[in-house]
Amino acid sequence: MAVARAARTLAAAGVEAARAEAELLAAHVLGVPRGRLALAAGLTAGQLDRYAALVARRAAREPLQHLTGSAGFRHLELAVGPGVFVPRPETELLAGWGVDQARLRPGGAPSPAEPGCAESPAAGTAARAEPPAAGAAEGDAAAEAALGGPLVVDLCSGSGAIALAVAQEAPAARVVAVERSPAALAWLRRNAADRVAAGDRPVEVVAADVTDPELLSGLTGRVDVLLCNPPYVPRAVLVPPEVAAHDPDEAVFGGADGLDVIRPVLARAAELLRPGGVLGVEHDDTHGAVVPALLAADGRYEAVEEHRDLAGRPRFATARRRREAVPVGPGHAEEAGGARAWQTGSS
Ligand SMILES: C[S@@+](CC[C@H](N)C(=O)[O-])C[C@H]1O[C@@H](n2cnc3c(N)ncnc32)[C@H](O)[C@@H]1O
Repeated sequence: MAVARAARTLAAAGVEAARAEAELLAAHVLGVPRGRLALAAGLTAGQLDRYAALVARRAAREPLQHLTGSAGFRHLELAVGPGVFVPRPETELLAGWGVDQARLRPGGAPSPAEPGCAESPAAGTAARAEPPAAGAAEGDAAAEAALGGPLVVDLCSGSGAIALAVAQEAPAARVVAVERSPAALAWLRRNAADRVAAGDRPVEVVAADVTDPELLSGLTGRVDVLLCNPPYVPRAVLVPPEVAAHDPDEAVFGGADGLDVIRPVLARAAELLRPGGVLGVEHDDTHGAVVPALLAADGRYEAVEEHRDLAGRPRFATARRRREAVPVGPGHAEEAGGARAWQTGSS
């Protein structure tokens, strides 16, 4: 009864999946999975009060994940709240592509004994590959060589969704997560610590601005897989109340055309990737042509592809770093005053 009433309240407030969210909140209050709600005892008086308060906050368009304190992402439950971007289901596609790419690299396939091989979401809680040696965070080639697996970098890591999914599902990979916001970094470090406690290989967290031309300078030419879900919404776009009031501005908006972070990331990624290394970058659904065009124009990428989400919208672009010597795109040659007009594919 309480759930039906809550669903009506949420629907009237403009919440799209009102019934599902009313059930999820009830399950949260009862401490049971949503699928077991029908079997759970009814809400006590105290629980009813708590439920009513949560429903009122959701009706005021606070994100569901802020109310429950967690967001599901692939096989993970991530802690989220004020100050960090709530990971979205569509980004699971980019993360999955990254997992597949990491597993394809030499030394990247998990052995049958490793949890990353298993299909089930419960996988990933047993012992993992050796963590990197202390101090191996940036540019420690010896540590990288000793570990053998692919090097994966997640730029604009937020809660750590992509980085931690790769660490769980491609356990042979060394994963580096980069984030600039102090508030987001706190959530990222908390989630990373939780995953280590659960048995995953540690992710290396780096506090940095991904638009810095010197980003991760110690990893130049060594990255196998580079993933990025940057802020990409054009400034003038109206976003739902949950996003406008609760996702950090710097996590959502990418300047006037939405490409302020994407442009420098594509340029720096071409330097960080090893020849044959791959890049995957999520973008606004209006950028299904422009991001592949930027990749093609750079000149250092090949095999540029656009990927759609389950709703058929353009969602992320991928490309491979060329192996051969290539002309750097016109913009780069100009920026460098022509000094770097040509760059070898091997570094
Ligand atoms: C769309 S969110 C993606 C978060 C996470 N990767 C995910 O998929 O859920 C973008 C993230 O990029 C961070 N960010 C924005 N500009 C940045 C910059 N210049 N350098 C580093 N991080 C940045 C934001 O703080 C935010 O956490």
